[in-house]
This record gives sequence, structure tokens and C-alpha cells, in this order.
Amino acid sequence: MSRRARFLEALGITAEWLPRTRADAPQAQAVSEAVAVGAPVAEVAAAVIDDAIADGIAEPVTVAAQAAAPVAQAAPALETAIPVVPAAAAAMPVSRAPVEPPLLPAGPEPDSAQAGREAAIAAMAWPALDAAVAGCTACGLCQTRTNTVFGVGDRQAEWMLVGEAPGENEDLQGEPFVGQAGKLLDNMLGALGLARGRNVFIANVLKCRPPGNRNPEPAEVAQCEPFLRRQIALVRPRVIVVLGRFAAQSLLRTTTPIGKLRGTVHTYEGIPVVVTYHPAYLLRTLTDKARAWEDLCLAREVHDRAGAGA
Ligand code: URA
Repeated sequence: MSRRARFLEALGITAEWLPRTRADAPQAQAVSEAVAVGAPVAEVAAAVIDDAIADGIAEPVTVAAQAAAPVAQAAPALETAIPVVPAAAAAMPVSRAPVEPPLLPAGPEPDSAQAGREAAIAAMAWPALDAAVAGCTACGLCQTRTNTVFGVGDRQAEWMLVGEAPGENEDLQGEPFVGQAGKLLDNMLGALGLARGRNVFIANVLKCRPPGNRNPEPAEVAQCEPFLRRQIALVRPRVIVVLGRFAAQSLLRTTTPIGKLRGTVHTYEGIPVVVTYHPAYLLRTLTDKARAWEDLCLAREVHDRAGAGA
């Protein structure tokens, strides 16, 4: 059975209906650093615009039609289209879509307290970062969380997955993607020959659960993003797969809808980024699962190409 067929089977859909493809610090030091960055700072605005209808509508077509233009056919073209080092992988377009022009500017300059906090976090090793997240009181979410959700997996992984924020189960267990969406995510990883904790690190933009699973607020993202930024810098993956509109727009600092962010290789701190749908969305929207498979194939190609130059 092909990888794609296995993926679709793992996702629980038949192959009959598919979407139309249109055009190391000591602990004491860690704790003191954590306290230092927990200090309240001035508000920093980050533009995250609610765009709930951005995911597009798929129309069913037959497998035969889908097979006429599979992702696999893009592979030879990618041989020449994607450069060999991760830092440059997004500088050239992949075969099916051009790299986007620069996205929105970063927003207002942080004040000096925020800049100091960000600089402290940017210098942390894993133990300090762990402790800083665990003890963070930089936004109001600390008052309602059960656990912080730092992230899980191989800290030297070649793959990094970034979601939005912990939900109820994640808040209770302190681990990302452990609910229904997490099961689907595990299936998606399995279809790629990956597994949670094996060459994959999974994290969220927010480390604490927004109450009632409401959307994260810009000030919360602004306080939490330095943690994710440091995690990415420490893992230094070959490719980042961003799950869902919110995480994609936060990480890439854009308001572009997810339907337009997909299919293009972006960059974050020089690391190639591929955007796909959030597993929770895929649970509700059967028809976009095949598109998610295309995204993962693109991520695999970017990953492999980056490895070829390593
Ligand atoms: N959704 C997310 O984005 N992250 C989680 O950890 C769980 C659900």
C-alpha cells in the first residue's frame, strides 16, 4: 500500500473521495532566570486576526482525477527548486507555488523590560527554559492553568511541530496534543514514518491553556512567543510544520489565510516552515485531509532536501 493510501487509511477516510486540487545550566541558575523573566512587562501588540473562514472549501473528485496530479510528481522538480541547506531552503520556490514575499512587519518595538526578558530567554539552555515556562506568570493564563505545557519530544529532532495552545486534556496532563486531535496527529506522524518523541519535537505557541479554549490574545502570544523562539533555536530542526491558522499567523506574523499559506515554504529564523491544517480542524473537515497529506509530503521533501545538504 502506498504511503498516501496508508495516510488516508490512518485518517479514517476512504480513497474514493478526495478534494479537488485547484490551480545545560544548574538548577539554581535555571530557577533564578525563570524568576527574572516572569516579571510583568508592558503590553506588546501582536496582530492576530480572527479569520475563521479562511480554510477554504474542498469539492469531491475521483481518485483517478486526483492521481493525475499527485504530490509525488512534484518531486523531480523539487530536486532543482529547493536548495540543500535548511537556512536557505525557503529562499527558492517549491514547484507548485512561489515563496511568499515578506510578511507583515513585527509590530511595535518592545519596551526595554520586554526586550530584557526576551534577551534572557534567548540565552537560556533547556533546564532554564523548562523552569522559566513552569514558573511563568507573565500573563493572566497562569491563574487558570493546571499545568504549563512545555512541549515534548526529541530535543535534537529534525522535525518540529507547532500547534496553537493546550486544550483541556493537555492542561491536565502537561503534554501537547493528547486529546482527540493528538491521536490524529500521531496517525499523521506515523504515516510519515515518524513518532511522537522520535525525531520530532512538538510544542505550542502558548504554553498555558486559554480558558474555555478561547482564542489566544495578542498580549498572551507576545509574552509566550520568546519561549517558542528559544525552543526552535535549541532544537534547530530541519523543518517546522505549523498546525493551523492561528499558529501559522502567529509564527509568520501575518494575517494571510491558511489556505494561502499552505503549499509554500516559509521561513522562521532561517528554518523552513510548512503550514498545514490543525488536526482538530481535520477531525471536522474530512475533505481537507488529503490536502494535509500534500502538506506533509511537501514538508518531507523540504526535510529530505535539507538533510542532503547537512
Ligand atoms: N491543540 C493545539 O494546538 N495544541 C495542543 O497541544 C492541543 C490541541
